[in-house]
Amino acid sequence: MKKILIACCFLTLIAQCDNISDGKKLYDVKCATCHTPTRPNSMAEMNALIAPPMEGVMFHLKTSFNTQEESKKFIKDYVINPTKEKAMCMPQKIQKFGLMPSQKGVVTEDELDKIIAYLSEQYK
Ligand code: HEC
Repeated sequence: MKKILIACCFLTLIAQCDNISDGKKLYDVKCATCHTPTRPNSMAEMNALIAPPMEGVMFHLKTSFNTQEESKKFIKDYVINPTKEKAMCMPQKIQKFGLMPSQKGVVTEDELDKIIAYLSEQYK
């Protein structure tokens, strides 16, 4: 019985790891086209940005929500239904970059779950 339990835990862990590595691949294709993973190092990089870097976005969300669950829920909704009213980022960001276009039809719910699992792990 114990062995089965251990095997189950192990499998759950592997499944979780799979989700995270799938999430990274999906992030690279579906989000990184606009969101660079890290903050810019130079003025030229800064001027080339078309969306806030993910490092900054995730840091801001961490300070805005009490729990990671709330933050995950926010991302899941915002990616599909972004509005000015819901935005948690500073208003200057929207002024500078414009509102994020909805990714409805670009990313499925399942893919989004994996992306969020990756982001939550990457930017803890
Ligand atoms: C076409 C460009 C583009 C793509 C693709 C894109 N985003 Fe964004 N995103 C933006 C811009 C611009 C903003 C800043 C304005 C805003 O908050 O709406 C933003 C803001 C955000 C925010 C912060 C929202 C807030 O206001 O607090 C999150 C979270 C986010 N994006 C997640 C994602 C994820 C996850 C993906 C991939 C599934 C993604 N984005 C794909 C352009 C993009």
